[in-house]
Amino acid sequence: MKTRAAVLWGVHQDWKIEEIDLDPPKTGEILVRWLAAGLCHSDEHLVTGDMVVPDEIRGPLGLPWVFPMLGGHEGAGVVEAVGPGVTTVQPGDHVAASFIPACGRCRYCVTGRTNLCDLGAAVFGPGQISDGTDRHHLDGRRISIVAKLGTFAEHSVINESSAVRVDPDLPMTAVAIVSCGVTTGAGSAIHRADVRPGDVVVVVGVGGVGINAVQGARLAGARAIVAVDPVEFKQKAALDLGATHAVASMQEAQPLVTELTVGQMADAVILTPGVMYGDLLAPALTLTGKGGTCVVTAVAPMTQMTADINLFELAMWQKEVRGVLFGAGNPRADIPSLLALYRSGQLKLDELVTRTYRLDQINEGYQDMRDGKNIRGVITFA
Ligand SMILES: NC(=O)c1ccc[n+]([C@@H]2O[C@H](COP(=O)([O-])OP(=O)(O)OC[C@H]3O[C@@H](n4cnc5c(N)ncnc54)[C@H](O)[C@@H]3O)[C@@H](O)[C@H]2O)c1
Ligand SMILES: [Zn+2]
Ligand SMILES: [Zn+2]
Repeated sequence: MKTRAAVLWGVHQDWKIEEIDLDPPKTGEILVRWLAAGLCHSDEHLVTGDMVVPDEIRGPLGLPWVFPMLGGHEGAGVVEAVGPGVTTVQPGDHVAASFIPACGRCRYCVTGRTNLCDLGAAVFGPGQISDGTDRHHLDGRRISIVAKLGTFAEHSVINESSAVRVDPDLPMTAVAIVSCGVTTGAGSAIHRADVRPGDVVVVVGVGGVGINAVQGARLAGARAIVAVDPVEFKQKAALDLGATHAVASMQEAQPLVTELTVGQMADAVILTPGVMYGDLLAPALTLTGKGGTCVVTAVAPMTQMTADINLFELAMWQKEVRGVLFGAGNPRADIPSLLALYRSGQLKLDELVTRTYRLDQINEGYQDMRDGKNIRGVITFA
């Protein structure tokens, strides 16, 4: 069949809407008709080149080419067909995309860390998870697919291990944003920062991911949540959704957190700016108190090797710096659980979808993200 998709042909280019050819799903695969796709900042790292292995490294390592690439890893859709052997979903089911698949068998999956599943290693290369062959073709050539999902398309063929079944009555925009940004942000606070009742938490960068670190910290019982973002409307959104204070910069947060904690500083600082740079770590660790945790959620340029860090304070104040992938949990459990919190009114999702776009407006949507206009922009297909 033929379908329309947003394809990136190289760094620093616009997304281009192309007609691609799709083969039917093979063993373990499903054909999904996407209904909504979130404009997560992670796809933007492909446009800027921050998340593209440079040719001089890729070549000698024998890593596969990257472009042309079908984009999108945050999404919700309906299963239209299943290949042989598929057991977890059937045609008509509604699913959330899972940008790290869960094989259920590797050492990470069997120890309750499906966010680290071994299948995640190859999600940026070409070919299907099952056997490395292609179901997506563009004018007869191979294309790679972001996270083996490609939610910036009307249809794509994915592995069933990349889909999480969800209740069909849920709004698809809500399901779409839970599939990456919400699970990542909430999990950064709940699982990785291990926020406890009474904690003081700072969230740096309140976009689609950070706003959910704010909500996660609130659900975990934080007594104070300081949202840091230079964009005023994001500060206001954070205050509406659980932040107790909002400021424009980490420097501005310094006297505030000092006052809130009588000098003890924050139990957790969660870094969710659009891009992680090495010079953001020192001010974040200055905001982190004795025995506190600094969680790095934002994606840095792949080649970023240095960071400012006071190593004396790291040991003597027993601070911790922790990375986090997909909320450090189990997306197959966390996605339905967060959607249940949404249903009961304890997690706000509709408020996070600032604007919806058609697939053809994808570049406008990403420009709005760069301009700070959206908490989350979402493409809708229906
Ligand atoms: N670790 C993971 O598994 C994972 C998953 C999804 C996204 N991410 C990453 O998380 C980051 C955030 O994604 P997003 O979709 O929310 O991005 P976004 O662009 O929607 O939001 C980023 C926010 O950070 C703010 N900001 C930028 N620089 C800042 C600074 N120095 N101080 C304070 N605020 C600042 C911006 O104003 C914006 O509101 C991205 O790097 C994304 O790739 C990581
Ligand atoms: Zn994402
Ligand atoms: Zn696994």
